[in-house]
Amino acid sequence: MVADRVMIFDTTLRDGEQAPGAALDSQGKLEIAHQLVRLGVDVIEAGFPVSSPEDFKAVNLVAKEVKGVTVCGLSRCVKKDIDSASSALEPAERKRIHLFIATSPIHMEFKLKKRPEEVLEIAVEAVKYARQFFDDIQFSPEDASRSERDFLYRIIEAVISAGATTINIPDTVGYAIPEEFGQLIKDILNNVPNINKAVISVHCHNDLGLAVANSLSAVKAGARQVECTVNGIGERAGNAAMEEIVMALKVRKDYFGVETSINTREIIRASRLVSRLTGFVVAPNKAIVGKNAFRHESGIHQDGVLKYRQTYEIMSPEDIGLDKNELVLGKHSGRHALAERLHQLGFDLSKEELDRIFEEFKRLADRKKEVFDEDLIALVESTMRVDVEKWQLEGIEVTIPKDGLPTARVYLKFGDTVYSETAQGDGPVDACYKAIDKITGRPGRLLSYNIQAVTSGKDAMGEASITVDFGEGQVINSHGSSTDIVEASVKAYVNAVNKLNVKR
Ligand code: KIV
Ligand code: ZN
Repeated sequence: MVADRVMIFDTTLRDGEQAPGAALDSQGKLEIAHQLVRLGVDVIEAGFPVSSPEDFKAVNLVAKEVKGVTVCGLSRCVKKDIDSASSALEPAERKRIHLFIATSPIHMEFKLKKRPEEVLEIAVEAVKYARQFFDDIQFSPEDASRSERDFLYRIIEAVISAGATTINIPDTVGYAIPEEFGQLIKDILNNVPNINKAVISVHCHNDLGLAVANSLSAVKAGARQVECTVNGIGERAGNAAMEEIVMALKVRKDYFGVETSINTREIIRASRLVSRLTGFVVAPNKAIVGKNAFRHESGIHQDGVLKYRQTYEIMSPEDIGLDKNELVLGKHSGRHALAERLHQLGFDLSKEELDRIFEEFKRLADRKKEVFDEDLIALVESTMRVDVEKWQLEGIEVTIPKDGLPTARVYLKFGDTVYSETAQGDGPVDACYKAIDKITGRPGRLLSYNIQAVTSGKDAMGEASITVDFGEGQVINSHGSSTDIVEASVKAYVNAVNKLNVKR
């Protein structure tokens, strides 16, 4: 028997990017979109075109450059949103519009200030209007899990009659419980007369930590599209994690009886890329992609795994693209080995970029016996993505007098001009941050600061992960790495200022 297929709708670039502190520029979005194609997702939701010129540009760029996938744009049930999505998605090989309007009593009364009948009419008119530009129309009754059933059935039936081809059921506030959410899908299938003309999709948030469980319960009940994000990033506590959904459907195919088109060996690359570009560090115990997900610590477990792997492993690291025969790189490694390793880590570099990285790699390998993956990621991060539209760190000088406050001079380049400022602070990092504030004129307040060694040994790379509040609700996460922790901290701060410019 041929298994049913569940479509993977990836919303990392839209809902994922809405995560507080995440900010992706259009180049970053494009890089992720290419990786999503390698991963084999069915639909990429690239953004919300009307929301900002940068989002419009990103959706348009993805639509232009990324082939072999459906590219989708989010839109309220408003003509100007639909027009904007239509022009942003114009160059796409396959395009979809995702229309949404809230249908729960609480959202209709307090947010939309509209009666249910008005909401229904607006939704139907929007779908009809969108039909002029799109054959592929997805409709979401926002906050569906808290909507009244009869109204939900009615609006779904009406938008399908108007031309919607996918009905997405969002658990917008992460309120549902798996059994109940699965039942909601069954009820929709049983109570909406024309539901066979559309695909049922689900979109679950993780406020109670149930996003993946709810999505899987919906699949069991008949949903045939799941919306998810890489590493589960998204609004508040995030969305259902793509890698967890996909691996659960694969490992428990005996239970779900469905397939996806995902090439799971690309999962780890996707996870690392999204973590690197959003600045969201993946927790070590995160399912599937956390550093510890395939590590066995206790003696009994190690013994069991050595005797027969399946005693404690329900999937293998190779399934998600972790290669157990990874080469150890050092100062005798050549360009080919470096290129191969970087490819496995999710970097697609041009020849010129590889030349630059190779130079830096040789310098690092002279200082370190073994160069680990984390060293390489940090190296590429600090060497590549040189953008004249962004601040770049040119140098730091720090003096720490025996009695008195440390003083820092920081040199930053923007375009062709190098700027420098001096400041004193409680410590060297504080002094550097104050000097940067003077240069950029964008003072930030540090909300969190963590430094950790990403490799082992005294010559380890240090990674600074910070959260900075630049005022007016602009909170940015970022990180930077170097073998010098002051430099790592400064890189993280400069990175945050650059992300702030994108977000604005
Ligand atoms: O969470 C939500 O309801 C959404 C909709 C736009 C689908 O993100
Ligand atoms: Zn959402």
